[in-house]
Amino acid sequence: MCGIVAYIGEKDATPVIVSGLRKLEYRGYDSAGIAVLQNGKIEIRRVAGKIEKLEKLVDENPTKGNIGIGHTRWATHGAPNEQNAHPHVGMAGRIVIVHNGIVENYLSLREELIAEGVEFKSETDTETIAHLIEGFYSESQDLYTAVQSALKLIKGAHGLVVMSTEEPDRLIAARLGNAGGVALGIGDGEMYLASDVPAIVEYTRRLIFLESGQVAIITKDGYSVNDLDGNPIQTEVVNVPWDPISVEKGRYRHFMQKEIHEQVRSLSDTMSGRVDFEEHRIHLKTLNLDEEKAKSIKKIFITACGTAAYAGMVGKYLIENIARIPVEVMVASEFRYCDPIIEPGTAVLAISQSGETADTLAAMEEARGKGALLLSIVNAIGSQAMRIANGFISMQVGPEIGVASTKAFTAPLLDLYMMAIYLADLRGTLSVEKRIDLVKDLLTVPGLVEKALKKEDAIKAIAAKYKSMKGALYLGRGVNMPIAYEGALKLKEISYKHAEGYPAGEMKHGPIALVDKDLPVVVIATRDAWYEKMISQIEQAKARNGHVLAVATEGDELIQNLADEVFWVPETPWLLSPVVNVIPLQLFAYHIAAQLGLDVDQPRNLAKSVTVE
Ligand code: G6P
Repeated sequence: MCGIVAYIGEKDATPVIVSGLRKLEYRGYDSAGIAVLQNGKIEIRRVAGKIEKLEKLVDENPTKGNIGIGHTRWATHGAPNEQNAHPHVGMAGRIVIVHNGIVENYLSLREELIAEGVEFKSETDTETIAHLIEGFYSESQDLYTAVQSALKLIKGAHGLVVMSTEEPDRLIAARLGNAGGVALGIGDGEMYLASDVPAIVEYTRRLIFLESGQVAIITKDGYSVNDLDGNPIQTEVVNVPWDPISVEKGRYRHFMQKEIHEQVRSLSDTMSGRVDFEEHRIHLKTLNLDEEKAKSIKKIFITACGTAAYAGMVGKYLIENIARIPVEVMVASEFRYCDPIIEPGTAVLAISQSGETADTLAAMEEARGKGALLLSIVNAIGSQAMRIANGFISMQVGPEIGVASTKAFTAPLLDLYMMAIYLADLRGTLSVEKRIDLVKDLLTVPGLVEKALKKEDAIKAIAAKYKSMKGALYLGRGVNMPIAYEGALKLKEISYKHAEGYPAGEMKHGPIALVDKDLPVVVIATRDAWYEKMISQIEQAKARNGHVLAVATEGDELIQNLADEVFWVPETPWLLSPVVNVIPLQLFAYHIAAQLGLDVDQPRNLAKSVTVE
C-alpha cells in the first residue's frame, strides 16, 4: 500500500524521486524517505509525516547523485516514525531497500538474523530483507543473485527496489505476488521505476510491468527481466496514454473536488471508441467475447472491494435487467472463503480502480483456479487485474488521486451498463428498439451529470448547515440502494462521521429506532419505480422528527414540501440514475470534510490501493 519510486540516469535523482513520491502520496502518507548514492556512499533522508516534510529536509540537507530510491509508507509493522520509514539499510551499509508488502515469516527470519549477530534498527519486516540480501551479497558479490536468494526465503507478496554501494550502475527490482505493481519506465539514457504510473508518467509513457516472480536488473541504458531461477523473460512494452496534467490539482482545492468535476469528461471518455452512434450498438473488443462465449455464460459473479463493490451492486441490476443473466455480488475479501460454486458457464467479473487490490486479485485467482471465465473492469492500465483476466474493460478515466473514489465509481457504472447491452446483443436477447433506446439514454449521461454538478453551491450551503451532525442514515431502493451505501461510505471516509447506508425498506426493521431530530436521513427519492415507496419512507422519518435530505428530480414539488433539504438532480433514465444521483452525495461529503478543514485527499488510516489482505 506504500509507494515506491526510483531513478537511474544522468539527472539529479533527488527531485525526480521526491516529486514522484508526491504523486504517490495517496498510497501511504505516514512517513517517507529517500536514499541516493552520493560519491559511493548511501545518503538517506527520512521523516515521519508527509512528503512535504521530506521536501523540506532535502532542501535543508541536500543529497546529490544520479541513482536513488524513495518510498512513502502506510505502516503495517512498526509505528510510523522516522526509524521505521524506508529506505532500510543492511548492517554493513552496502545494501539499501524500499519495499511494499509484508514479510509473513519475518519474526523467524529476524530471530535467525539476530542469532547471527545482526542488529536491527527498526521494527519493520522490511529490514529483514535488507539484512538477508546483504548476507547473500557477501557470499556472491553480485547484487542480482543476492536479491534472488533472499526472495526465495521470504514469504508473502512483495514489490521492492534495491541499490548497493558496490554496484552503483544498477538497481534491482522485483515483484512477488500481489503487493502492488512494479513498473519500469524507459527513458532516453535513463530509467524510472515506480509502484504506480502517476509517479513517472511525466517523464515517460513507455512502461514495462513486472509480473509476480520476476526480477529486473536496471541500468541507465536498459533493463533485463528474469524469473526467480534466472531464466530470461521477454517483456512487453506498454504505451500509457495518460496525460500528466491529470495528476495535478489545477484550479481545485483538492484532487477529490477536481475528480468529481472531471466526471463529465471521464464518463464521455469511458464510452469513447465503444459506442457505434449510427447502429446504436456497443463494442467492447477487449472483453474478448464472441457470440458463442457470451451465450455460454449462465451466471456472473461480481467481486470487488469498497466503492468498486458498490458499483458491482448496481451492475447486478443492470446486467440482470438488460441481459437477463443472473448476477451475484460478493466482496472480494469474502469470495475466497465461501467456496464459490463455479460451474461451466460461470463468469467472474472483478472491478478495481487500481487493479492491484490484494483481496480482489486473490478472488480472481480463486476464480481462475476454479475454471471461471475471468473478466475485469479496471482503471490502472497494465495492472494485474487487467493482465490476468481473459477479457477486460478499461475505465479510461485517467489517474484517480483522491483516496475517496469518485470518477472511478461512476465510470464502471457506465461500463457495466455497456457490458449488459453488449452481452444481450451478442446473446441475441435484445430487441433492436430496446437497444436503440438504451444506447440513446447512455449518450445523455455526461450532460445530465454536468447539470447535477451545477448545483454545487447549493450543496455546499447544505453542507455548512449539517457539518456538525454526528452521523447520518442513507436510504435507497432498487438500483439506487447501492448509491445509499456509496453516499454513506464517502461521508465516513473523509469526514469521519458515522454514516450507514441501508435498503430503504429495511429501515422499519431496525434503523428507524435511531431516527430523531439529531439524525439526518438522506433519502434517494428520484422519480423511478420506487418513488412512492420512498415518499412513505420520508413520511416515516418526518413523523419521528428526523431531518430529511432528499435527492430528488428537479421540479418535484411534493418532495420540496416534505423534505428539509433537497439535492436537485435532472430527470434521468432510471437504469442510469445511479450515475447522476451519486453526484450530490459526493459533493455533500466533500464539502462537509472541506469545511471541517479535514485532509480530504488523504483521510486518516486509509490508503488508495490496499495491497495487503
Ligand atoms: C481502498 C480505497 C477505496 C477503494 C478500495 C478498492 O479501500 O480506499 O476507495 O474503493 O480500496 O480499490 P480498487 O482499487 O480495487 O478499486
